Amino acid sequence: MTDQAVQTPASNPAGHPTRVFSGVQPTGNLHLGNYLGAIRNWVPLQDQHPSIFCVVDLHAITTGFEPDLAMKTREIAAAYIACGIDPQRSIIFPQSRVTAHAELTWILNCVARIGWLDRMTQFKDKAGKHKERVSVGLYDYPVLMAADILAYRATHVPVGEDQKQHLELARDIAQKFNNDLGVPGFFPQPEPLILGPTPRVMSLRDGKAKMSKSDPSDLSRINLKDSDEEIAAKIRKARTDPEPIGGTMEEIDAARPEASNLIGIYAALAGKPKADILEQFEGAQFSTFKGELADLAVSVLGPIRTRMADLLTDTANIDKVLSDGADKAAAIAMPILAEAKKAAGFL
Ligand code: TRP
Repeated sequence: MTDQAVQTPASNPAGHPTRVFSGVQPTGNLHLGNYLGAIRNWVPLQDQHPSIFCVVDLHAITTGFEPDLAMKTREIAAAYIACGIDPQRSIIFPQSRVTAHAELTWILNCVARIGWLDRMTQFKDKAGKHKERVSVGLYDYPVLMAADILAYRATHVPVGEDQKQHLELARDIAQKFNNDLGVPGFFPQPEPLILGPTPRVMSLRDGKAKMSKSDPSDLSRINLKDSDEEIAAKIRKARTDPEPIGGTMEEIDAARPEASNLIGIYAALAGKPKADILEQFEGAQFSTFKGELADLAVSVLGPIRTRMADLLTDTANIDKVLSDGADKAAAIAMPILAEAKKAAGFL
C-alpha cells in the first residue's frame, strides 16, 4: 500500500536517529515480486525518515560477473524512480561508488565468525551441492550486507522475510564490534521492517515457489519490462485449479496455492485486503477473474514500464542521479568508516 502508515520509532535505543536503508541487486530482470514485495513499500518510508536506496552491484558479482552490469545498475535506479522513489528526497546510488562498503566489510569480516556464516540458509540454497566451487564472495555476501547497513548506521531495513536471517547477522556483528572494541552503541542494532500486507508473490506456474528472476520459465513471472500484451498473456496462462472462486480465504490459502497467489496479487495491486477481493469475485470462474486481474496489472505496471523506458533513454541523466547519490551517500558513510577504523585501532 502506498498510503499505509508505517510505525517506526524516531530513534533506536542507543540514540541513533532513524535511518532507512535497503537495496536490490542488479542481476536478472525486476519482476512483480520485487515491486509488490519491496520497492513499492519503500515509497511511503521516504516521507517519514531519511532513506537510502542502494543498487547493490558489489553483491551482484558474487554469482558471476554480469556482462551488462552498468546498464543493469541504471535499470534498477530507473525502476526505483519510476516506482516513486524521489531522488531529491532519498539517496539512490550504486554500492560500488562508495568505497566504505568494501572497506568496512573487511573490518567486519574480522568480527563475524565462520560459524555464524555457516548457518546462513540463503548461502546453502544458492551454493547447493557445489559449496566448494562457489565464490568466496558468495559466502561473504551477508557480511557485505551488514557493512551496507552499518556504514550508514541505518536503523531500519525494509526487506522480505527471506532476508531476516541476514539482518540478525548484521545485529550480531554490530553488537560484537561494539563489545569487542569497547565502543558501546557505536553501531545501532538495525531492525528489519517487514512491511505488510505485502504478499509473498509466488510463481505463476507453481503456487508453492517464490516468483523469481532465476526461474527458467519466463511465464512464471511478470517482469517490470513486460509489454501490456505479455502481462495479459502470462496472467491468462497462469496455473489455477478447475474450481470457481469460493469458500473462505483460509481455505483457499491452505489448499489452493495458485488461487491464493492470484487473489493475493490482485489484492496487493488494488491496495485492498484479500478477503475483499474474494467477496468481489465470489462464484466467478478463473477466466473472468484473470481478465480483470490482467486489466488491473496493466493499469499499474504499464505507467511504470513507460517511465522506466523514458528514464533509460537518457543515460547521462540517470548517471548524474547516481553520481549525485553516491556523493551524498559517501558524505554519510566515509566519516562513520573513519570512526570505525579509529575504534579498530588503525594508525
Ligand atoms: N540481500 C538483499 C536481497 O537479496 C539485498 C541487499 C544487499 C540488501 N544489501 C542490503 C537489502 C542492505 C537491505 C539492506 O534482497
